[in-house]
Amino acid sequence: MPGIKRKDLLEIGELSKREILKILSLSESIKKRGRDLSYQPLKGKTLGMIFEKNSTRTRVSFEVAMWQLGGYGLYLNKSDLQLGRGETIEDTARVLSRYVDGIMIRAYHHEDVKKLASFASVPVINGLTDYEHPCQALTDLFTIYEKKKKFSGLKLAFIGDGDNNMATSLIFGCAKVGLDITVASPKGYQPGKDVLNKAEKDSMMNNSKIVVTEDVMEAAENADVIYTDVWTSMGQEREAEERKKVFSGYQVNGKILKKAKKDVMVMHCLPAHRGEEITDEVLDGPNSVVFDQAENRLHVQKAILISLMA
Ligand code: CP
Ligand code: NVA
Repeated sequence: MPGIKRKDLLEIGELSKREILKILSLSESIKKRGRDLSYQPLKGKTLGMIFEKNSTRTRVSFEVAMWQLGGYGLYLNKSDLQLGRGETIEDTARVLSRYVDGIMIRAYHHEDVKKLASFASVPVINGLTDYEHPCQALTDLFTIYEKKKKFSGLKLAFIGDGDNNMATSLIFGCAKVGLDITVASPKGYQPGKDVLNKAEKDSMMNNSKIVVTEDVMEAAENADVIYTDVWTSMGQEREAEERKKVFSGYQVNGKILKKAKKDVMVMHCLPAHRGEEITDEVLDGPNSVVFDQAENRLHVQKAILISLMA
């Protein structure tokens, strides 16, 4: 696609603002097309989709996107591959590159995905790692723009684990497009300095702010978007009980919503742990856009696939 001259999509933090806006604009035109099966830019192409972790949205949206664009997505559970028996990432990358036109991978360790990309001759897409979830963050920016028609002047409040893949990707994404972001997290779970330093450069260029606080109400105050994610991410299950205690004051509920703007949009990448990071009342309430957001994964996934593989 014109404007996207990269082989892989590993981190939203490494995309330029222009590349992000290109993907969002393509997503918009693809969404408008709906299920137009005469449009087959990926006719005859295949995507290998390696999963080390569970997935509903990422798996289904990529598989459906490939099919609707004329191609085919192969679901490859890591434990069924020789990769699960010790074949190296390097060899897996080289072999898969002889069969498929692109690889999507959801993995525990971000470094593994970088290694896969460096040995694969075909595009590699990060479908979530411990560090970033770029496809989700691009969808989130798309959803915000779709509903609010702008980025600049808006405030997004991220409430919860400020050190997880979603918080990191949103900090980078917001800084790139010039959206103010305030992250409210308890001490010890706030965004890393490396993430903040990297994002700060973009936010300065785009005249936006990044604020980190322990105070949920400060974050929610006048927010245009309230975003939350699970307190315990995949791979952290052993810490779940401890995290429930640490994050107990960081629930997105009716009280928090009252601090935000009247038309605040509530977002969650899903899956949600209802009753923990978010109440049913808010998730199912009139401000919630979570199912539109989930639907948009399909449209944005198509834009990403076309940008890298068509
Ligand atoms: N949001 C998201 O990536 O969902 P899945 O884990 O179901 O893919
Ligand atoms: N932070 C969550 C996101 C799930 C889409 C996790 O990594 O489990």
